[in-house]
Amino acid sequence: MKQFISVHDAGDVNQLVQEALSVKQTVNHQSHLGKGKTIGLLFLNPSLRTRMSTQRAAYNLGMNVMVVNLDKDSWQMEFEDGAIMNSTKSEHIKEAAGVIAQYCDIVAIRCFPGLVDRDWDYDEIVLNSFLKYCKVPIVSLESATRHPLQSFADMITIAETQQVAKPKVVLTWAPHIKALPQAVPNSFAEWAIATGAAVVITHPEGYELDGQFTEGATIEYNQDKALTGADYVYVKNWSSFADYGAMPEVTGDWLLTEEKMALTNNGKIMHCLPVRRNVELIDALLDGPNSLVQRQAGNRVVAAQTVLKKILETL
Ligand code: CP
Repeated sequence: MKQFISVHDAGDVNQLVQEALSVKQTVNHQSHLGKGKTIGLLFLNPSLRTRMSTQRAAYNLGMNVMVVNLDKDSWQMEFEDGAIMNSTKSEHIKEAAGVIAQYCDIVAIRCFPGLVDRDWDYDEIVLNSFLKYCKVPIVSLESATRHPLQSFADMITIAETQQVAKPKVVLTWAPHIKALPQAVPNSFAEWAIATGAAVVITHPEGYELDGQFTEGATIEYNQDKALTGADYVYVKNWSSFADYGAMPEVTGDWLLTEEKMALTNNGKIMHCLPVRRNVELIDALLDGPNSLVQRQAGNRVVAAQTVLKKILETL
């Protein structure tokens, strides 16, 4: 594996998931694989799970880890070619990426969207700048449009809990108090579709995701209908793609309840975390026996370790 920025770097997703399940068996016995290698974890945005799980995975592989909060600890960065740098941005990505590549064998970066300029976000300017100028393997720790390590962990979680060969996997929009990116739902959709699951996406009108991520899924505006017979219910808020970054008015109550979950096939509940309790998901469901949220977070180490191991094999 040369890079990990989307499902397109995964090869056969089901095969990669099986490989991850093998890694999980020996997760603490791989410290020879990354000896002498260094990973740089670069954050332009906050993180708990991604930061700690990737760091833990790198330690499990015997790697050295350098964590930099680029948004706080470093120079403000310019990404535009030909920019006249006479304002607050002190360092161009061209210099920074070249420097970082000399210190690290692998670079992983988190770069959220601004949710203002759709073209800027969906062109993945920050991630693509690192891919262009930082000549070492790049791993996405969540970019403007995708969160592949989260989705990989989600697929591992489904694989190790599924009761049927082709589970019905429902991605449902949930309420939130602020506008959130589409990266997690985009990514979850394309990974779940790639596993061959029966994927249904349900959301209020106005919250359609970019079609490039949802081809092969059924879009259903009636949440009850979508939930009927579901084996997995992935709960997530996102803002509008069409009216970019907006939160169009919603009719009906989209907060999942125990009554709604009764429509499912004893459906398991998933969420990438962090979750706002009793805004996005109620206590009873988060704390209930069908909640997989802690298992998903645990599998973040397995996903990261599998990816880093496969990249290390190419160095
Ligand atoms: N799910 C996830 O990526 O969590 P963090 O934002 O805390 O890393």
